[in-house]
Amino acid sequence: MFVLYIVLKFNRFDCRESGEKDVTFKVLYCGICHSDLHMVKNEWGFSTYPLVPGHEIVGDVTEVGSNVQKFKVGDKVSVGCIVGACRSCDNCTDHLENYCPKQILTYSAKYYDGTTTYGGYSDIMDADEHFVLRILDNLPLDCAAPLLCAGITTYSPLRYFGLDKPGMHVGVVGLGGLGHVAVKFAKAMGVKVTVISTSPNKKEEAVKHLGADSFLVSRDQDQMKAAIGTMDGIIDTVSAQHPLLPLIGLLKSHGKLFMVGAPEKPLDRASSFSFTHGKEDGSW
Ligand SMILES: *[C@@H]1O[C@H](CO)[C@@H](O)[C@H](O)[C@H]1NC(C)=O
Ligand SMILES: [Zn+2]
Ligand SMILES: [Zn+2]
Repeated sequence: MFVLYIVLKFNRFDCRESGEKDVTFKVLYCGICHSDLHMVKNEWGFSTYPLVPGHEIVGDVTEVGSNVQKFKVGDKVSVGCIVGACRSCDNCTDHLENYCPKQILTYSAKYYDGTTTYGGYSDIMDADEHFVLRILDNLPLDCAAPLLCAGITTYSPLRYFGLDKPGMHVGVVGLGGLGHVAVKFAKAMGVKVTVISTSPNKKEEAVKHLGADSFLVSRDQDQMKAAIGTMDGIIDTVSAQHPLLPLIGLLKSHGKLFMVGAPEKPLDRASSFSFTHGKEDGSW
């Protein structure tokens, strides 16, 4: 068995002074996302320390700034990957703050005033209300936390790029934190779901517990061959290096492949012909 140890230490730090648009909340739950692991180990090269990870955060409002409109003390709220953006560029105007070049990440980043952002592995947090989301009463708070990153990361491509129509066939690669919510969302949308994984022992979880329609072992050439050209889309959640071309081969014409994992090393080089011909060098 492989066990990964990461040592985190308790640390006291000063929060920035909260402003008139800030919502302060007691952190109740916080998910562990693979990005937290990448960031703790500086695998993407932009971590700054001391670092407080956590960007799937659910809490209970304890204080609101004088100009906060949407929240009051006692509300159940959540914060995801970003806590700031310029609010005036084209992306921000289109409600795509996640693409704002001046976005502020929830931790290991700097607010515009130069103070550091700290994430949800903390007892208390604050954020501008624009980046705070309400948690509805009927949603269990512990289950809500992973929706803030894993959830939106998989829901968004399914919806945004139209892979949400009943009867469509979507592949989900990898059955970790992102993969399992991808399966649940896609199934809830009425989509036929095939989980694609290197580990055959994930089949039971995929099919029995999460309701996937079928399971493909990506190392099994015969299974992969039989599935060529059958999928309308693929959500690839794997955050380690892995071959892409076999996945591309599973798509129907005009099928869509979404990479939502963020491996620290670049992925395959693919010749342009490989997209239509299926092999790395462009041959059949
Ligand atoms: C909007 O986001 C895209 C994608 O990240 C980026 O390439 C583009 O520069 C952004 N536009 C502006 C005006 O910042
Ligand atoms: Zn912006
Ligand atoms: Zn995340």
